[in-house]
Amino acid sequence: MNKAFLISLSLSLAVLSSAHAAPPKQPKAPGIESPDYAWDAQSAEEAQLLKMKGDVENGKIAYQGCQGCHKPDASGLSDGTYPQLAGQHTTVLIKQMSDVREGRRDNPKMFPFAGKHVVDTQEVADIAAYLNSLPLPGNNDKGPGNDLARGKALYQKDCVSCHGERGEGNAGKFYPVTNGQHYRYMVRQIVSIRDGSRRNANPKMVKVVKRYSTSDIGAVADFMSRISPLKKADK
Ligand code: HEC
Ligand code: HEC
Repeated sequence: MNKAFLISLSLSLAVLSSAHAAPPKQPKAPGIESPDYAWDAQSAEEAQLLKMKGDVENGKIAYQGCQGCHKPDASGLSDGTYPQLAGQHTTVLIKQMSDVREGRRDNPKMFPFAGKHVVDTQEVADIAAYLNSLPLPGNNDKGPGNDLARGKALYQKDCVSCHGERGEGNAGKFYPVTNGQHYRYMVRQIVSIRDGSRRNANPKMVKVVKRYSTSDIGAVADFMSRISPLKKADK
């Protein structure tokens, strides 16, 4: 083989392997901006997942691909970059993961680790069962604590009907556990739900938080971050 041939061969191999290594991009599916939006519309995979029984032991193994960000105990990161997942309702985990897999909830950072190209349907069911089985860590990031009376009043008026007295959510209705969630994560989510960038949100919640100022959001999230810890959310 001559030298020029070898160089061109190694170049094309490099091109091939880099094309192979490029992580697939998250798809984009219609969300809250589309006229026929239904916040809890289920993809075929999600409908299947909701009927499956996850295996906790297998879920623990499959979760290894997630713990670099969400941490081994699934407590996330206190600066709010990564949410706590431990103890979350199975239904909520399945809905949120499905929405990321289908492209209804934008998360380009997580997609390379959670898309269908790396995590199969059974593994999603297993991971959801595993995360649901974990105790809530109860060491979450809290807000500044300077406006709690107002935060509580807002929560009681506008949020408790869905998120519950203790932030236990509602598994049957896909309302997330917010007990023990990081303050800064909750602030960011409420803002993106209000502003439409979390495109898989519940329109009734959007309507409620539309009129919330930044300081309202801070006060209510601070109150939520301090509700006494649940040992285990209801299932
Ligand atoms: C590269 C970092 C990264 C990895 C790896 C990762 N995630 Fe995430 N995940 C995130 C980020 C960032 C968010 C929050 C996105 C946002 O702000 O809306 C998130 C959010 C979530 C949520 C939504 C939680 C909620 O309360 O709404 C679930 C569920 C989730 N991840 C599950 C997983 C699972 C399961 C895996 C592994 C298969 C995984 N993640 C891997 C970064 C990651
Ligand atoms: C009609 C029921 C409903 C009401 C009322 C409601 N929420 Fe929600 N909330 C939801 C649902 C459902 C989600 C998850 C949305 C999705 O599917 O992505 C959510 C998500 C959240 C999240 C993000 C949780 C996570 O794990 O990512 C926070 C924080 C939150 N809500 C706070 C509030 C606050 C504060 C109020 C009151 C001002 C409120 N919600 C009112 C139903 C509601």
